[in-house]
Amino acid sequence: MSPSQPLNRSPNCSVGIKVNGVQRELSLPAETSLLHLLRNDLELNSPKYGCGLGECGACTVLVDGMAARACVIPAAGVAGREITTLEGLGCIGDLHPVPQAFIEEQAAQCGYCLSGMIMMTVSLLAHTPHPDDLQIRQALSGNLCRCGAHLEIIKAVHRAAELMAQAKVP
Ligand code: FES
Repeated sequence: MSPSQPLNRSPNCSVGIKVNGVQRELSLPAETSLLHLLRNDLELNSPKYGCGLGECGACTVLVDGMAARACVIPAAGVAGREITTLEGLGCIGDLHPVPQAFIEEQAAQCGYCLSGMIMMTVSLLAHTPHPDDLQIRQALSGNLCRCGAHLEIIKAVHRAAELMAQAKVP
């Protein structure tokens, strides 16, 4: 397609969602994915585009507290829901225990999978506060890391569980 050719887009639809605690009202082409809404419209770059097929976990965010693959969720399908990305877990000096633990355990190499790993871990610990190695491996099995940081990631999840217990994070 030449750059001057108009894109064949469907009509816009209105989407109201809460992202990282802030209510947003957006007008988007109906086919827009949640991942594109977050990255392109809200400039939240922590969720990554990996496969675009729901298979790698790089785009994982929380939808009403549950881990979900933003690349395969239509933005219009999460209207009225609460979305949390890594940006919603605080910043240096006031970090949520999960990203804090990943920093302490140096649980990353290239970092591309990191946001998805952290969001999946938050979801895991919300339901399983003290997971064993097998539970961690099962929970993170759909989040791919090509660098081989898996052992540090498992240590980070255990450390996050400790920090959350100390801080009494729900
Ligand atoms: Fe969404 Fe791979 S980019 S699962």
